[in-house]
Amino acid sequence: MSVTILVGAQFGDEGKGKIVDFLSTDMDMVVRFQGGDNAGHTVVNEKGVFKLHLVPCGIFKSGCKALANTGMVINPDELLKELSDIESKGVNTSEMYISSRAIILMPYHIELDSLGEKTGISIGTTKRGIGYAYADRSRRTALRFEDLLDLDYCKERIQKIMPGINAELQAKGGRTFSVEEVYAKCVVWAEKLSARIVEPISFVNKAIEKKEKILFEGQLGAMKDIDLGIYPYVTSSNPVAAYAAVSGGFPISKIDEIVGVMKAFTSAVGDGPFPTEMLDENEVNGFRGDGHKVDDEFGARTGRARRLGWLDLHIVKYAATINGFTSLAVCKIDKLDTYDEIKVCVGYKLNGKEIDYMPTSRDMYKVEPIYRVLKGWKTDTTKIRSYDALPQEAKDYIKCIESVVGVNVKYIGVGPAREDIIIK
Ligand code: GDP
Ligand code: IMO
Ligand code: MG
Repeated sequence: MSVTILVGAQFGDEGKGKIVDFLSTDMDMVVRFQGGDNAGHTVVNEKGVFKLHLVPCGIFKSGCKALANTGMVINPDELLKELSDIESKGVNTSEMYISSRAIILMPYHIELDSLGEKTGISIGTTKRGIGYAYADRSRRTALRFEDLLDLDYCKERIQKIMPGINAELQAKGGRTFSVEEVYAKCVVWAEKLSARIVEPISFVNKAIEKKEKILFEGQLGAMKDIDLGIYPYVTSSNPVAAYAAVSGGFPISKIDEIVGVMKAFTSAVGDGPFPTEMLDENEVNGFRGDGHKVDDEFGARTGRARRLGWLDLHIVKYAATINGFTSLAVCKIDKLDTYDEIKVCVGYKLNGKEIDYMPTSRDMYKVEPIYRVLKGWKTDTTKIRSYDALPQEAKDYIKCIESVVGVNVKYIGVGPAREDIIIK
């Protein structure tokens, strides 16, 4: 299949990085299509342990192009840091490209995000400036990477933009930025990144025409989509499959596969409703760990302890509806290895009645999860590599997911590393 899109089916941090790294061994190109360095995608492979924020997780496969595409908001300083970090671990980044239409996330976006979280309506953002960079895109006061290719024009734009930005910063009690300071950054970014900037529409469409294998990598998950998620506790972009085509400038008819990545339980960072959340710290600790292991439940971007709960299939089913998953990847079933019983939410009741839709955020605080209790398998699954070898109870868990969501499970994660995977 030529075009595959991979997205998160819950609240983010489902294990997308691990699955993209695994699938990219068969890809010609991997493309990130939304978000910015709010992402933290963990990859564990023969090159080491990585937490990628902007660079697509296909960067490790030699000969595989990696494109940070239109739809993203990219902090060039963070990108340069990340490129130099992975290069220092022996990873070749010569095939990493940036869309000329991608938005430049500026230092003042970060300042505004921090001020917004302190003085505005806090929703627990990653404070990486994401919402403010997208806001500038919408009000047409952002710079794009193409502007770095014409520095005179770039300076003109900065001169026009900065008075408005500085007025907002001043009103909120933040520090202001001079035109010279912002322009000086652009000169450095132009020098270091210009060679990677490409015209993205032909770049992607030519690859599709040549039947290259392309994997589009989403950031975050369905429930944090700005339109379809738990507004206002959401990000500022659309982490759903169709957006890869919208921002990529190719027809949706070219999409062959849509992989939904989910965790075998649920996690979330930031505020907002979470119907199956475990509020008892002792219960939570079974999933979380103490932060020493790569797969402990602490944010790969912010280090915040993740909120945790039982698997919520009402959410995964909703994600399947809005994305059109052709298959599911279920990560971290090994984290359920020790439980006698495992609870799975298979639906919601609102005001005493079962509902068949995703309620508003306010109603989501009120829903009562309908739980099915499954028997645990009490077996170490981390060394298992074939579906047949899984204990029957683990197969029943997978079958329960398939029957409620209505999508086949194709990949099952049994550990953080690339090879810790079962293909069903
Ligand atoms: P992403 O944002 O979707 O790429 O996910 P993150 O990297 O933020 O979080 C997923 C976490 O689960 C990371 O710590 C991964 O190392 C870990 N992980 C992914 N798949 C598996 C799995 O199958 N088993 C275990 N034990 N850990 C996994
Ligand atoms: P990956 O790609 C989990 C959450 C933040 C906050 C909300 C808005 O690793 O799955 P933002 O900084 O985007 O304005 O914050 O979204 N959030 C994530 N949660 N994983 C992520 O990325 C996230 N990126 C943003 O915690 O609730
Ligand atoms: Mg993550």
